[in-house]
Amino acid sequence: MIPAAGSGQRMGAGVNKLFLTLGEKPIFIHTLEAFEADPLCAGIILAVKNEEKQEIESYLKQFAISKVQAIVEGGTERQYSVAACLEAYLEDGVVLVHDAARPFIRRAVIHALVQEAAAHGAAITGVKAKDTMKLAPTGIVEETVNRDALWIVQTPQAFRYEILKKASDQAIADDFLGTDESMLVERTGHPVRIVEGTYDNVKMTTQEDLAIGEILLKRVQQ
Ligand code: CTP
Ligand code: MG
Repeated sequence: MIPAAGSGQRMGAGVNKLFLTLGEKPIFIHTLEAFEADPLCAGIILAVKNEEKQEIESYLKQFAISKVQAIVEGGTERQYSVAACLEAYLEDGVVLVHDAARPFIRRAVIHALVQEAAAHGAAITGVKAKDTMKLAPTGIVEETVNRDALWIVQTPQAFRYEILKKASDQAIADDFLGTDESMLVERTGHPVRIVEGTYDNVKMTTQEDLAIGEILLKRVQQ
């Protein structure tokens, strides 16, 4: 499930950032290609804005992305876009939620997540914080947090379908808005495991991420 219905405010490009190119392809096409090429991926459900659906469909055709089974209308928040994807999914098994804005996802991480989620129900990927971490809600340091206990969390996040669906339905019923799927599952009490990912799974969020993305792309191509 790939939420792609954002607007890319922080990129400040005046268009949905997912249409911006890295190398010669739109960002979201790189992301889709990772799953298109992965034999473990049975199908893709994409959440998009209605007004961008046609353009997205024409890119899917141009870049021969064939695994998209459904394109659903996204919501006003990322969580609602994912909920729309979950509504369109009619099977069992493990589902992965992955930001369209993270084009550098590696197959080894996807496979490790699928394996953990199949065995335990819920698994997310993240990396260890490299910098010293301080807690300072008012701008004055209250505490230096134990860095070894902290993870910077990314997507994909993988779940057995029924676990995520129940968590998503419950969050919406409670008017709870989370920043990732894991938060929704955490509040149901189901343990969420962390799989160590890679620092290059960067989310294209601001202009400097695009510059980093161009460098990462060259490295991948070498
Ligand atoms: N997304 C979505 N529906 C929303 C908001 C976000 O499907 N209502 C998607 C984005 O398209 C992106 C992913 O969720 O692929 C991660 O969100 P983010 O990086 O925050 O993208 P945007 O919301 O587009 O960017 P910004 O927050 O800067 O506006
Ligand atoms: Mg956003």
